[in-house]
Amino acid sequence: MTLHAIIGGSGLTQLEGLRIEAELSMETPHGTPSAPILRGELRGRAVLFLARHGHPHRIPPHQINYRANLWALKQAGAEAIIAVNAVGGIAQAMPAGHFCVPQQIIDYTYGRGHTFFEGELERVTHIDFSEPYDTGLRAALITALRSEGVAFSDHGVYGCTQGPRLETAAEVLRLERDGCDLVGMTGMPEAALARELELPYACLALVVNPAAGKATGLITMADIERVLEQGMGTVRSVLARVLAG
Ligand code: HPA
Repeated sequence: MTLHAIIGGSGLTQLEGLRIEAELSMETPHGTPSAPILRGELRGRAVLFLARHGHPHRIPPHQINYRANLWALKQAGAEAIIAVNAVGGIAQAMPAGHFCVPQQIIDYTYGRGHTFFEGELERVTHIDFSEPYDTGLRAALITALRSEGVAFSDHGVYGCTQGPRLETAAEVLRLERDGCDLVGMTGMPEAALARELELPYACLALVVNPAAGKATGLITMADIERVLEQGMGTVRSVLARVLAG
């Protein structure tokens, strides 16, 4: 059985139904992870869980120590990673409440610790990242979403911005011209670091708001939180289905 790790984002700082067996407070050569890694069982399946923004939710996207998080998960024995991300919807097919299992990424972030391959190296390494997400894990998420009977897209391009502010309407238009369907702040460098550690990785994205300029009115945290709360039940069920295999 593959030991899956779940990286929970906004709205998923804890995993309801997780029977916790151990809290692993880890240090890594890259610093301290966002929170202790929880090891336990979800509906009878062993799983690791890490709250990306800490628990309680306190670390903004640009200050997350993605390297420490990924390193610690690998050290804890993770063999595959499912990332849960709240995102804004750019494409018409991505309204609030919609789920997506993206298949591509465009990275607009800067200044984040984005690689393990720096410092004193024996040789220069360029990982292949043509397909940033793992095919098998994506398929498992898609099957689980289908079984849940919820509205979802089985592909999409995730544009990762720096945050913590939301985008301008013009920035969202540019993302759209670039081919992005979704916009979030935490998809990168997480996915690339997982690839550097040779950990299969896929993303379960929940659209929590129309991206800037895609609806009238302001984007409010209250609206986002309402959609998050509604969607998290489905997220938990999807995760349990994937773990059950
Ligand atoms: N933009 C960037 N990140 C986000 C958004 C958004 O509109 N919604 C949730 N995460």
